[in-house]
Amino acid sequence: MKLKVLNEDIAEVIITEEELQQRIRELGEQISQDYDEDTELILICILRGAVMFMADLARNINLPVTFDFMDVSSYGSGTESSGTVRIIKDLEDDIGGRHVLIVEDIIDTGLTLKHVIKLLETRDPASVRAVTLLDKPERREMKHVEVAYNGFEIPDKFVVGYGLDFAEKYRNLPYIGVLKEELYN
Ligand code: IMP
Ligand code: MG
Repeated sequence: MKLKVLNEDIAEVIITEEELQQRIRELGEQISQDYDEDTELILICILRGAVMFMADLARNINLPVTFDFMDVSSYGSGTESSGTVRIIKDLEDDIGGRHVLIVEDIIDTGLTLKHVIKLLETRDPASVRAVTLLDKPERREMKHVEVAYNGFEIPDKFVVGYGLDFAEKYRNLPYIGVLKEELYN
């Protein structure tokens, strides 16, 4: 069994490696169809959790794509609904007049994505859309955050793997799993 040391910390696998890859192929096909075939798309990876997803998604998009990366950290908790997002690493490329697809690992409250979209829109791109691998609809505070593409809706449980971490660990699991509760309590 792969990654035995990490597997022992997982209570339940909720999305297998095969299910992830199948759904990512579908998302890639859908994205490829939705844009004109000569569209140059900038994929913007929200670090660090979306790294795996973007790498696999990009290989399933039949358009000329470029990569850029942004690192943000969100402040604001359940008690602070108007929390804000700090940019730790900004984009390298100018997105003015270009088609942008933000690639996120998971939408929880929606705060991070809302702020990133708002910021990127001030730079006058031709279009801004977002794709998320996972969505926790029960937790969504920002009802109006528009996500064009959504891989899986999941229950309100803390998940790790395939890029998602707990204290920076478990990103290299090839599936999405729920961590054993005793490990984060
Ligand atoms: P939001 O701003 O509340 O939507 O939070 C989104 C960010 O929180 C994601 O990009 C993740 O980095 C992190 N996050 C939310 N839920 C989880 C989870 O279940 N596991 C790991 N990270 C999570
Ligand atoms: Mg993240």
